[in-house]
Amino acid sequence: MVRIVPVTTLDPAQAELALAWHDVFVVSTVASMGDDHDTWSWASRRAREESTTMDRRYVAAVDDAGRVVGAAEVTMPLRDNLTLAMTDLAVLPTERRRGTGTALLERVVRTARDAGRTSLVTESSSPDAGTDPGEAFLLRHGFEVAQANLRNDLGVTAHAHARGSAPDPAGYVIETSTDDTRDEWLEDRAHLQSRMSTDAPVGDLAFEEEHWDAERLRDHRETTRRSGRRAIESVARHVATGRLVGFTQLQVPVEAPEMAYQQDTLVLREHRGHGLGLALKAAALAALVGELPEVRTVRTWNATTNGPMIAVNEALGYRTTAFLREWQRRLA
Ligand SMILES: CC(C)(COP(=O)(O)OP(=O)(O)OC[C@H]1O[C@@H](n2cnc3c(N)ncnc32)[C@H](O)[C@@H]1OP(=O)(O)O)[C@@H](O)C(=O)NCCC(=O)NCCS
Repeated sequence: MVRIVPVTTLDPAQAELALAWHDVFVVSTVASMGDDHDTWSWASRRAREESTTMDRRYVAAVDDAGRVVGAAEVTMPLRDNLTLAMTDLAVLPTERRRGTGTALLERVVRTARDAGRTSLVTESSSPDAGTDPGEAFLLRHGFEVAQANLRNDLGVTAHAHARGSAPDPAGYVIETSTDDTRDEWLEDRAHLQSRMSTDAPVGDLAFEEEHWDAERLRDHRETTRRSGRRAIESVARHVATGRLVGFTQLQVPVEAPEMAYQQDTLVLREHRGHGLGLALKAAALAALVGELPEVRTVRTWNATTNGPMIAVNEALGYRTTAFLREWQRRLA
């Protein structure tokens, strides 16, 4: 039997428990994805727990011998999507099929329901299509696939140099900043970030529009910094109006600087078709090579249905390296 206990990464007195909790995610992910995995770092888990725009609760499954054998994270947005909860759940490979995952999930569901959440979303990944270690468990527990995604990787050097010198599309200027969403960008960037939640494909996921303002972007910027991540951000300014009409962001964990993670990319609907998506990504890549030369690979996730983004990525040279699915369960 396991006990399910709350964990915090913020109390030094609980450091041993919290580190063991974090290790479960790492060991579990290495088992399914190999060393080239994408689980959150310790610094990120801690910074994410401190967020003021997301309520995050961490719980561990502890066995009779006092060992942490399972871990779960529950994330509940506080500014919008008030009926949504997301979870990340893992059990040590040697301890599976003993009901630990089920016990953790029951606690996650209770936490979400108690907070009025009616939809629970989670992700599972596999290096090959058709060998997903979470699939049987999630189907058994009433989840359905809501969106399929591809993990796509780009080897950095060759393309970044070749594309970075291209002129900006006529009528637009691309601006790039390192480790900062510049203060003078914040108002327009907040609008663009809200659009991201309505314009990117979400499949069957019950996601609602997100509400972003300058303060929330600052909180996000702070979480990135405390997570030990460097950031490169490029924006597209429409010369005629002076407004920002597109953006893209890359993040690089300082402790593992060979991999950059592509974050959101968006061009406002009325400014599409001018090559801004490609220009933004190429500008960010060129800055990445200049400022963070240890990066070897840029990694991104795209919905299989997102034709335009996949076309841009293929033009840049991205290739599929893994598969990720988002699953949803109705809690009502
Ligand atoms: C998914 C995971 C958490 C399940 O943990 P677990 O402790 O083994 O789960 P349980 O023992 O509670 O399994 C409950 C039921 O799910 C189903 N199930 C779980 N793993 C299964 C597998 N590998 N094959 C077939 N059915 C499986 C079974 O019906 C099982 O009941 P049973 O053992 O009586 O047949 C674990 O496999 C894991 O950490 N996977 C990697 C991370 C992941 O994919 N997480 C899911 C998304 S967040």
